[in-house]
Order: sequence, then C-alpha cells, then structure tokens
Amino acid sequence: MFNIFRGKRILVTGNTGFKGSWLTAWLLKLGANVVGFSDCIPTNPSLFVDADLKKHITHIFGDVRDLDALDRIIQESRPDFIFHLAAQAIVSTSYQEPARTMSTNFMGTVNLLDCLRRVAHPCSAVIVTSDKCYENVEWIWGYKETDQIGGKDIYSGSKGAAEIAFHSFYESFFKDRKTVRIATGRAGNVIGGGDWATDRIVVDCIKSWMRSESVRIRSPEATRPWQHVLEPISGYLTLAACLSLNMELSGESFNFGPTAEKSRTVLDVIDNLYERVKLLCDVSSPYEIVDRVPFHEAGLLRLNCEKSQFKLKWTSTLDYDECINFVGDWYSAYIKDSTSSYSKMMQQISNYENLGKERGAIWTRSL
Ligand SMILES: NC(=O)c1ccc[n+]([C@@H]2O[C@H](COP(=O)([O-])OP(=O)(O)OC[C@H]3O[C@@H](n4cnc5c(N)ncnc54)[C@H](O)[C@@H]3O)[C@@H](O)[C@H]2O)c1
Repeated sequence: MFNIFRGKRILVTGNTGFKGSWLTAWLLKLGANVVGFSDCIPTNPSLFVDADLKKHITHIFGDVRDLDALDRIIQESRPDFIFHLAAQAIVSTSYQEPARTMSTNFMGTVNLLDCLRRVAHPCSAVIVTSDKCYENVEWIWGYKETDQIGGKDIYSGSKGAAEIAFHSFYESFFKDRKTVRIATGRAGNVIGGGDWATDRIVVDCIKSWMRSESVRIRSPEATRPWQHVLEPISGYLTLAACLSLNMELSGESFNFGPTAEKSRTVLDVIDNLYERVKLLCDVSSPYEIVDRVPFHEAGLLRLNCEKSQFKLKWTSTLDYDECINFVGDWYSAYIKDSTSSYSKMMQQISNYENLGKERGAIWTRSL
C-alpha cells in the first residue's frame, strides 16, 4: 500500500521532532520527496540532526502560527500529501507556556485548514492530534472516536480544540470537495529511539543512565499502553493512503493504539529497558522513586481502535517485548556511536516492515 508514496510530494510539519523524524525517514525509504516545515530543532541531542535528515529533504524553518508562511510553502510545494505534526507536544511545558501551547496546537491547525481551502490540486492531509483530545472520565474502557472531546489540562484542551476546528472546517468547507481530503489521527504516548524530549520516561531513563545516575520516577505503578513510534506512524501512513483512495474517509478521525496486552507499569518498562542497555551504562540502581507529582496529567487513557481495524484494516504490529527491544537496540547503538542514527533508523524501519509483512499488515500489501 505504501508504494502510493513513491515519487509523491509530501509536506511534513513538525519534521524536526521525534515522530516527524521517523515519519520523514520512512517516507524517504518509500521514495517520497519530503518537504519539512518546523519552527526549530526542539531538542539537543536531536534525531533530526544526528540522522542528518536535512540532507535528504527540502527543509524550511517557519511557524505554523504564521498563516502567510504556511500558505506560501503549501502553494509552492503543491504537496500530494500533508502530515501535520507540528505542535507544542510536552504536557509539562503546557503548564509553563499555556498560550504558546494553545496557539500552536489550535491556531496552527486552524491555519493549516485555512490554507487547504485555497488548494486546487488533489491533496490528502492527516492531522495528528492525540488520545488526550478525549474528555478523560478515568474509566477503564477504551475511548471511541465518537466519545466526548475535552481536556482538563492545557495540552489536552489544545488537542481537543484542534479536533473541534477540524470538524468545523470539514463541515464548512471540505464536505463536498473531492480534491482536498482531511482526517485526524489520534494516538497515545509513544516510545522509540531518538526521542530526547523532556518529561518522557524513556528519555529520562536514558539521559540519567548515560550520566551514570538513577532515574527519578514518580508513579512506578502507573500503567500505560506503551507503543513504539512506528506503530502510529504506520497508522498515519495507512490513513493517508486510504484517504487518497476513498473520499468517504474525509472528515473522519481514527484512533491508533496498541492492544491491551502492551499495558505494563512504568517500573516494568524501566526494568526491561535497563536489561537491554545495562552493559553500556554504569549505574548502581536504575531508578529512585520520588513522591513529588509536579502537575496534573491525565490518568489511564486507553483507545478503542476498532474503527481503524474495521475501516482501514490497521492494527499494531509489535508485541511488548519487541517494542522494548526496538527501543533498547536503538539507544544501545546510539550510546556506542551517535553517528549511526540514520542507518539505525532505516534498519529498524526495515525490521518493522518485515514483521508487518510476516503478520499480514494491510500496509505491506501492494495497491
Ligand atoms: N510523542 C508522543 O508520545 C505523542 C503522543 C500523542 C500525540 N503526539 C503528537 O504527535 C505530534 C508530534 O509529536 P512529537 O513527539 O514528535 O513532538 P516533538 O516535540 O518531538 O516535535 C514537535 C515538532 O513540532 C515543531 N513545532 C512546535 N511548535 C511549532 C510551531 N509553532 N511552528 C512550527 N513547528 C512547530 C517542532 O519544531 C518539532 O518539529 C504532535 O502533534 C504531538 O502532539 C505525540
């Protein structure tokens, strides 16, 4: 299915971030021509820099809150596909910078949708929001795409607001348009090699262990539906491909999450990850439990992914151990040689594609 991207012009906003870098690498592997649009290199170290992705794409620095700049890049690059990932994506930062979070995540999405109104050529756009767009009523069941949108904290609210803007623009401008098609993808927290963002558990572990320190954790028994970054990315790519082939999917939102089997505690993940990298890090104890909870973060939030399974035939590919192996292998390779990032990414994408093929993933079939 992903052969549809070969030779296509693809705009990725947020391409310098964690998910944007992996998506770019996969698109490059598929033979696409990628144009990236981001405001900065958000972390140091950075996967985008270490993998030297700039060399392989057309990269433009710009702000999604700048309507004219976004309009210019879309009119000039005439993308066949757009993946909108640009966001202030860190929950803790959203408490320090609520206005920037809201304006980037909400107005950035509004600007993209406004630009799309002026697009005359065929274009399919996937807007990445989050599982946090749902009103979290702290129940054990998975949220469905028809559940209430909400958000008690700023980050969640900004993603809920982006979903509402998407719906309003679809109903007002895109409902009867065949050429421009839009959909949103909602996924939960992901883990994977090359993430260096703050307040993410795997990153905190790796950074602490590289300094030969224990990682400080606050909620050791918290359960999260862990998934590898390539899982939702395979979902976004599947959605974009299906959207370009089927107009009926325009205006729809899709959840991309792991199976319940992948729900393990924070402590499980730390122990399992440490097992994979311990030979490279000299730490007396991998973690230290602290009781300070600095800000409210939504509790357990599961996604019901039956709609993606039914309408896109998409399911996640890796089991929990494979997911942790991918992450451990990537950081082990990084610790040994940080210049191997591009080849390590490509190798992991190939491994993931092979596992997908073995398991009959829809996206491994030819169109
Ligand atoms: N990482 C996760 O676990 C996760 C989970 C659910 C949803 N998401 C969503 O996926 C997307 C990508 O997340 P990520 O983890 O790669 O984030 P990230 O912080 O690593 O990257 C964010 C990207 O957005 C860009 N950006 C931020 N503000 C911008 C602005 N005003 N103008 C232009 N570019 C701007 C940054 O430069 C960077 O390229 C985001 O929309 C995020 O909300 C991420």
